Amino acid sequence: CGIVGVLGQHEAAPILVEALKRLEYRGYDSAGIATLQDGALDRRRAVGKLVNLSDLLVHQPLAGKSGIGHTRWATHGAPTLNNTHPHRAGRVAVVHNGIIENYRALREELARAGVAHQTETDTETVALMAQHLIDGGASPQEAAQQTIAKLEGAYALCFLFEGESDLLIAARKGSPLAVGHGEGEMYVGSDAIALAPLTDRITYLEEGDCAIVTRQSLSILDADGAPVTREMKTIRISNARVDKAGHRHFMSKEIAEQPTVISEAIANYVSEEARSIRLPGEGIDFRALNRLTMVACGTAYYACVTAKYWFEQLAGMPVEVDIASEFRYRQPPVTEGTAALFVSQSGETADTLAALRYCAGKADRILSVVNVAESSIARESDLALPIHAGAEIGVASTKAFTCQLTVLLLLALKAAHARGRLDDDALAERLLTLRGLPAALNQAMSIESSVETVAQRIANANDVLFLGRGMMFPLALEGALKLKEISYIHAEAYASGELKHGPIALIDEKMPVVVMAPSDALFDKTVSNMQEVMARDGKIILITDQAGAAAAGDGVWQTILMPDVNPMLAPILYAVPAQMLAYHAAVARGTDVDQPRNLAKSVTVE
Ligand code: G6P
Repeated sequence: CGIVGVLGQHEAAPILVEALKRLEYRGYDSAGIATLQDGALDRRRAVGKLVNLSDLLVHQPLAGKSGIGHTRWATHGAPTLNNTHPHRAGRVAVVHNGIIENYRALREELARAGVAHQTETDTETVALMAQHLIDGGASPQEAAQQTIAKLEGAYALCFLFEGESDLLIAARKGSPLAVGHGEGEMYVGSDAIALAPLTDRITYLEEGDCAIVTRQSLSILDADGAPVTREMKTIRISNARVDKAGHRHFMSKEIAEQPTVISEAIANYVSEEARSIRLPGEGIDFRALNRLTMVACGTAYYACVTAKYWFEQLAGMPVEVDIASEFRYRQPPVTEGTAALFVSQSGETADTLAALRYCAGKADRILSVVNVAESSIARESDLALPIHAGAEIGVASTKAFTCQLTVLLLLALKAAHARGRLDDDALAERLLTLRGLPAALNQAMSIESSVETVAQRIANANDVLFLGRGMMFPLALEGALKLKEISYIHAEAYASGELKHGPIALIDEKMPVVVMAPSDALFDKTVSNMQEVMARDGKIILITDQAGAAAAGDGVWQTILMPDVNPMLAPILYAVPAQMLAYHAAVARGTDVDQPRNLAKSVTVE
């Protein structure tokens, strides 16, 4: 699910592999490159990690200064060598992200013309179609454009042609793509991070764009085939900096970064004297709204579920939260006075983008909370609120989650103030409390060794149950998701009160039960639920504060002690032990923490 292309002055293969490494974080299961040497097309591909491709290139090098490369996350066809990109047909090599929905029809069209397929992929169809058109007399550029015009679905594509060592054709529909400008060199990449060491001058393609790239020029045609100019931007290198800063994994670095990035997020929204919240652009008039619909996927969805509690409790605003892949097909009515809010780290998740487009024109305002300011979701929103988390490389989201929560809390406070539920002083008091969050997060980092010990003890479990009440319920859901994503331990989360309605049947001495419960107003009820587990030999791991630990009494198997925190901030602070538990369980099991199997960072297919 990563694309690169280069028209360079130097050998392309090492540049392509290096750029692919920078896209590794998106998740993939095979990789390949193609180059032109003296105009002749050749390719190398390998299943598994990029190191397999690098090893292959040592034994079978690939020369040439023009090339394309790809990391593939299997959709159509298993992650086999035959299905690995670049795909080739005659003079055409192509790399592709996304799904060509009408590829069967195109396959049949080609079959009728006597063109046979070698692979199960939709991408091969694209290469075959372009070559078929070349056979019919089209130039490579015409063939690419005519092929693109036939495609339905979502894609980013980059073509390279035998005999055309100064030409790349790149097209974008539903999957992001950027062109990088160098000195007498040009690049194509799925994102600016891939191109960061090569250039900071980037032109993002818009939906439906087709770019004709040479070493000296870039011309772009829009969805109607008309020539257009797209702005070239100089991106901040700091946004694209990608290193582990001494940590063993990106995930561990990103967990540790949370006090810093959250403090930056707060500084970007809260005024100097901590009395008001500034939103970009025209802001949001919460008085004119009577309903908020929040839609997202995965971890971002759990950020929304958490924020529902804040919007309801602080601002008295009716909120509904939905999983993006379910939302639009249900065809929910979007009534007057509704703001639709989409939360996405990448800003490119296909399901979330489709839900946004469903709401466009129906909702009063389209809002988004994103980490990538240039993303499709940001650009198609009336107002995009950045979370200032910096590049998140670990596939399992950590700092983006807590930054999303921070921005959503700020929005809920803004709404509460606008709707008269908090006066100026009450808002200022809340903002002062919020300013204390980075320090509390810093303190929470010191629990790491105790979490590690607990994680080692659950690393051999087959199943883990997470329980939480109130705002700790969505966090329990996120804790279970983190654990299964990276340690592959089966984990489920339930609202504590729901335990007795079913999952209690699973409790035995083999299943650890993680209870996330600061000593708040709901704590006593949670203690009762814990008793129900302990009475059935269940092993409780209690994540709580001093007072909670004292009140929980005997019988708790393991306790992770958290600093005291204002209840409003608890979900953000308690995300830290949930993340660390998953991280250390995964390390203990020896899994690939930053690139867990089968997962992708940014899922641009439905
Ligand atoms: C993928 C990732 C998850 C992420 C979800 C939503 O499934 O593996 O970690 O939470 O997509 O991504 P987004 O970029 O929209 O926040």
